[in-house]
Amino acid sequence: MTIGPTDHNLDRLVHLLVRNATVVVPGPKIAAEIGVSRSTVWEWIGKLRELGVAIKGHPRHGYQLEKLPDILAPSLVRAELPSAEIGHKVIHYFRIDSTNSAALELGAQAAPHGTVVIAEEQTAGRGRLGRKWYSEKSRGIYASIILRPPLAPATAPILTLLAGVAAHSAVRAATGLSGDIRWPNDLMINGKKVCGILTEMRAEVDRLHMVVLGIGINVNQISMPDELREIATSLALEGGRYYSRLHLLAELLRDIERYYHMLLNEGSAAILREWSAASSYAEGKRVRVKASGDDYSAVTSGLDAGGALKVCRDDGRQELLVAGEITELK
Ligand code: BTN
Repeated sequence: MTIGPTDHNLDRLVHLLVRNATVVVPGPKIAAEIGVSRSTVWEWIGKLRELGVAIKGHPRHGYQLEKLPDILAPSLVRAELPSAEIGHKVIHYFRIDSTNSAALELGAQAAPHGTVVIAEEQTAGRGRLGRKWYSEKSRGIYASIILRPPLAPATAPILTLLAGVAAHSAVRAATGLSGDIRWPNDLMINGKKVCGILTEMRAEVDRLHMVVLGIGINVNQISMPDELREIATSLALEGGRYYSRLHLLAELLRDIERYYHMLLNEGSAAILREWSAASSYAEGKRVRVKASGDDYSAVTSGLDAGGALKVCRDDGRQELLVAGEITELK
């Protein structure tokens, strides 16, 4: 089920409660600040409680957050990114089928470059190669970023690598955990995946209309479903503590903006350099390759100028991977 984006007023209420987190805020003060009646405030407090925000108090005494809510509400995200280009507009859903589908739709209706769509929960999160993305409520980051780069469609794979480099850098800055990037852009920690990126685009032959970078990060999951346990993990499971999703998301958006400008100013080679420095898969890694219906073992031998991965099969044949997946062979 998809429900509409988080109401602007609900977002203002969350912001106001967070700003005054240490005190009880009287109902009339909230009503006056937001410009609605006290009974509307009461109604919204009920709505927030239903959505899992712990709020003490009642209309006569006022309201106070019991603990800071772990919600990626637009006003909270925006407050972390005062002059950002990526994240200047944030659209938040408590529940949606897929933030990538929403971003593609919004993009088709002319949503501007830098718009970010976030959800607390996805009911049909999409992964690469037609897979599903496990999207447990409020435990992960599920975000899609609309970009409108003045670049040719052939640059799209570089944007995909860019997102992986940004996720690698943001995770390190926000958690101290050092990951590895598996081509094209899976972020791995201790050999398991914590972050995946699905890039989708709308383009003409010579012009990119829009690119949607869909990023899923397993942040505070305390266990993974049976079928994923061997191959996926979360930052909390690896770091042994919870992390602020808000802080990590803000780092991620800042890093995407930083690398995006690097791409525009210095060209693809700069991103390829960053990617190769961050990935042990860039060169000399023995991998199993599944691509174009083929399945073989090979050794990686660097990226080409377009971001494709060069590999050398065991029989000496060279291949250039533009799609597909690789896994490490020990
Ligand atoms: C992968 O298979 O590794 C890519 C996973 C991408 C998941 C993210 S979560 C936010 C965005 N919305 C989606 O439906 N998918 C991407």
